[in-house]
Amino acid sequence: MMADVQRLLNQENRVTAEPRQERETQHRNNEEATNMLAVRRLTCARVLSAAGVIGSRRSSLPQLSSFLNKTTYAVHESNRPAWQKMEILGNCSDSQSNVGATIASAHPQPDTKILKVRWKDGSEDMYPYLWLRDNCQCPNCFHPVSLSRRFSMKDLDPSLDCVSVQVNNDGEQVEVHWTDGHLGTYNAQWLHERAFKLRHEPRDRQCRLKKEYWGHELQEDMPRASFPEVLRNDAALLTFLEKLERGGVVLVSGVPTEMDQIKLLTKRIGHMKITHYGETFHVANKLDPNNLAYTGDRLDLHTDMSVVEHKPGIQLLHCIKQFADEGGETQLADGFAAAVKLRTISQKYFDVLSQTAVDFVDIGVEDAGKFDACWRSPVIELDTDGTICNIHWNQAVRDSHFYVSSEAAAVWYAAALTFKDILCDANNIITFKLQPGDLVVFDNLRVLHGREGYRAEQGERLLQGCYWDWDCVRSRRRVLHKMST
Ligand code: OGA
Ligand code: ZN
Ligand code: ZN
Repeated sequence: MMADVQRLLNQENRVTAEPRQERETQHRNNEEATNMLAVRRLTCARVLSAAGVIGSRRSSLPQLSSFLNKTTYAVHESNRPAWQKMEILGNCSDSQSNVGATIASAHPQPDTKILKVRWKDGSEDMYPYLWLRDNCQCPNCFHPVSLSRRFSMKDLDPSLDCVSVQVNNDGEQVEVHWTDGHLGTYNAQWLHERAFKLRHEPRDRQCRLKKEYWGHELQEDMPRASFPEVLRNDAALLTFLEKLERGGVVLVSGVPTEMDQIKLLTKRIGHMKITHYGETFHVANKLDPNNLAYTGDRLDLHTDMSVVEHKPGIQLLHCIKQFADEGGETQLADGFAAAVKLRTISQKYFDVLSQTAVDFVDIGVEDAGKFDACWRSPVIELDTDGTICNIHWNQAVRDSHFYVSSEAAAVWYAAALTFKDILCDANNIITFKLQPGDLVVFDNLRVLHGREGYRAEQGERLLQGCYWDWDCVRSRRRVLHKMST
């Protein structure tokens, strides 16, 4: 892979080695060459991206930034900017793109400072001048490889107006001369995909997989994966990550019963989320336990780490030893499905649990030192658009301080008990006993987990756990998906 990167960089360097003046003339005269350059840069960006070279804030290759400095301006200053033809890397709307969006006409609306675009199919869209200027995609304003805005808001003139507008290339692009002296060229397809009508789901929603809610029936149909396959094979890794995102849980089998196997799996997705319990944690019966999990006690259904602001999104529990007798069984319940049921039963209780902040606190000492963590969140956390996005439910570390009125506390308990009844209903819960060599991976902010108690003095049980973040996992899943298509 790095050889490919080097080869492409060398090609870039060769193309851009001539003096800038000559490059500009050459490109002005030779549209083909410009297009080739863009295509090659795009390929290079793809290879670099696949190699993990770009995507980090700082490129690990000094050549990358120098080749960018040498190339972007030359392309921009050509008459027909080839960057207009560049596919936008990482664009999530690929599947929904409106192929064939062609501009019939474009009309400035000076009073409202809006550009009205009429499409060939007769529909119209409105684009504010300030948005257009802010989002100019020319390489001076938008870095085509890091995919970041270069244009500074300091240069965005609030009284910006448009001097002239011209539709080019049979409606494939529109050029706008702005009063700040800039010439913005906008690709029709690009504009169409960004129409201000609520036509598409926001990008981050498109980039997430639709969640599939479940109940007790999942017990007979657990999403599964094979550890050796996921380690070895990208397609198996992608399927595993897709199952995890959709259903919130995957049971992985075939894991050697040795420590640190979860580190091998972590290497496949990126990195761990370290917490005050360390990089990995060991769930076993311990002397002076700083967590109820480190006893033989039963653990009610819960989410982990409700006591911190940035909670881990995913939890891994690898079973190395299991209590032989009855006890130690794992229980899981889909907290999102339960929250939806709660809303059906009582909108009022749903509102109470999504609007009342609850304090969580955890004080103790771990290998990494003393910790003193507290955070406040509602049990059901909603996104800005009202979608259920996280559940924070942990009986063990919910603070006894409750900063509401006594009347509100009584209503909160009524709501919480109803939620608990739904979660613990036999129709919603799954129970299974992890066997040595099993690894359960689940969405820590959606799927609540618990375990039956066991007589710790009568036998050993050992799990090794760690956390991941959704940012890392979703990113890896998207990269794998793009590589597979
Ligand atoms: C935990 C936990 C489950 C188990 O450590 O937070 O929930 O099965 N453990 O021991
Ligand atoms: Zn620009
Ligand atoms: Zn737990």
